[in-house]
Amino acid sequence: MTQFIGVSEMSKLVRKVGVLDFLRDLAGYIEEDFRRWPLFEKAARVASHSKVGVIELMPTSDGALYGFKYVNGHPGNTATGKLTVTGFGVLADVATGYPMLITEMTLLTALRTAATSAMAARALARRDSKVMAMIGAGAQSEFQVLAFKALLGIEEVRIYDPDRAAVQKFMANAQTFGLKVTRAETISEGVAGADIVTTATAVKGRAAVITPEMLSPGTHINAIGGDCPGKTELHADVLRMGKVFVEYPPQTRIEGEIQQVEPDFPVTELWQVLSGAAVGRAAKDEITIFDSVGFAVEDFSALRFVRDLTLARSTELDLIPEVANPKDLFGPLLRTAPARVVRPDTDRISA
Ligand SMILES: NC(=O)c1ccc[n+]([C@@H]2O[C@H](COP(=O)([O-])OP(=O)(O)OC[C@H]3O[C@@H](n4cnc5c(N)ncnc54)[C@H](O)[C@@H]3O)[C@@H](O)[C@H]2O)c1
Repeated sequence: MTQFIGVSEMSKLVRKVGVLDFLRDLAGYIEEDFRRWPLFEKAARVASHSKVGVIELMPTSDGALYGFKYVNGHPGNTATGKLTVTGFGVLADVATGYPMLITEMTLLTALRTAATSAMAARALARRDSKVMAMIGAGAQSEFQVLAFKALLGIEEVRIYDPDRAAVQKFMANAQTFGLKVTRAETISEGVAGADIVTTATAVKGRAAVITPEMLSPGTHINAIGGDCPGKTELHADVLRMGKVFVEYPPQTRIEGEIQQVEPDFPVTELWQVLSGAAVGRAAKDEITIFDSVGFAVEDFSALRFVRDLTLARSTELDLIPEVANPKDLFGPLLRTAPARVVRPDTDRISA
């Protein structure tokens, strides 16, 4: 049977493990996979663009497991009460091709994006970083700051979003985790002197949310919202102020902030820093920029992590026929009992 993790089950799992521990442990899985990067089958994701958004498929394999995610990005969705980003994913066994796990990946994408951001910052930001500016108070925002608290010990957050209701929502959610949260009236006010700046805005266009004069020496920028052709958040000159780190250059050159600059603009691959093959931050006053678009290996790690957390239990789906004779697919069609869904005993979730 194929394991199934829906939204309510994923929520229970995160609460049971604890959101900070979940983010910390998930970051461990992602880092482990970045360190064995050359093993993975890699390709830029397959994107289907429309005027209002994008639908993407993100596959990868390490030779033993195969994973893919379906994900969308529709910045106009929130105006009609829908999420900007949703997703689901599959983990399969390479040896047989059988799907082992199907899971919701809307929550899991927010968790894995935040864990990846903080994992990158742990390697690139100044070690004494305590203050973070969060630009954009949408669906990803709380996940981001909690991952930075869990992995880097961030204590203070300045939040900016033109949508004041979104800021209020963010402040109420983030404050319950003991963070000192202040509202910035402008982006410049939020960014001034911050150790880490995360941008998670969702505008389908060439926005220059961060401009060079806003930045102080030594800042680490974690830019996650520029993740599609024609959709960027940093002024191009910001990219020339420091060192740019990326996930997978063939995808980032199409989708990331660096789509604005020349095709051979120098970048460092994050996996090389994590595996010790390249230098990350070279000096305290250097500006470092993680130009994140989200890569399939991060989703693979998240699928692997959830599979390991839920091995002992979960809802089972009869997605693949169980056959007595593998050459007789037709016969059971006429005899099969109604579809079976085994509901989980959620109290049995074990970390
Ligand atoms: N890199 C990755 O791996 C990754 C993963 C998930 C999402 N994303 C991207 O992150 C972005 C945010 O996603 P979300 O789900 O939080 O979207 P969302 O629509 O829920 O929130 C976006 C927020 O940005 C705000 N905003 C718009 N312009 C702004 C500005 N100039 N300054 C400050 N705030 C501004 C909006 O008011 C909104 O509250 C999206 O662009 C999404 O595509 C990237």
